[in-house]
Amino acid sequence: MDETAQPLTAAKRQAGYHAANLVEDGMVVGLGTGSTVYFMIERLSSRLKGEKLSVLGIPTSYQTAIRAREYGIPLTTLDDHPVIDIAIDGADQVDFGLRMIKGRGGAHTREKCVAAAASRFIVVIDEQKLVPRLGGVVPVEIIPFGVRPAMNQLRGLGCLPAIREGGKKDGPVISDNGNFIIDCKFPEIENPVELEMAIAKIPGIVESGLFTGFSGIATVIAAGEKKCKILSLTDILP
Ligand code: 5RP
Repeated sequence: MDETAQPLTAAKRQAGYHAANLVEDGMVVGLGTGSTVYFMIERLSSRLKGEKLSVLGIPTSYQTAIRAREYGIPLTTLDDHPVIDIAIDGADQVDFGLRMIKGRGGAHTREKCVAAAASRFIVVIDEQKLVPRLGGVVPVEIIPFGVRPAMNQLRGLGCLPAIREGGKKDGPVISDNGNFIIDCKFPEIENPVELEMAIAKIPGIVESGLFTGFSGIATVIAAGEKKCKILSLTDILP
């Protein structure tokens, strides 16, 4: 086992458990995707059994649906519950304005739909993901038909785009929605709001991993090995 991974794993567990403790009886819960959300599912499952809570989860990926079922969390859909009490998800980077980059796992389209339907958006990260300014890889989901012209337009926005390739599959990764993912490597992003809008205008693009519109409903739980920082916009702005 990679020894350096242990503090990181402990931080992810802290953040995930803390978020699961915010869930109340009767809630509809958006279940994000990834390794930090995994710990949230673990803790939520034990609360369902121990405290006899009744909740319904809306999974944002096949991975999460499989895990949630394994952990005995009853599932529903956005069709049946278009309004969600609380969505809990991970992120790849969060800035001090609580704008974020998501989509390392290629699940950002469903994650954005679920966050947009939620009254509260709880973001669980290890504290190393807090940055003064967003930058690096922004994943973009695109219908395969439009991929080449879209890559040219993305290049024009200042990034190096690359179609994501599978680790245990030859060729492009196919998202849960049947699309390609383009990883767009940006230097520091000066205006994430404008960039999210500019990417959204490119034909064929389904969603980018930039989440700039959730600061008002977001609470970020940024965990170290032992302690969590809780960030919400009202804590940051006067
Ligand atoms: C998947 C995501 C994840 O939430 C994000 O990549 C964080 O994952 P992890 O908690 O494993 O670091 O956006 O598309």
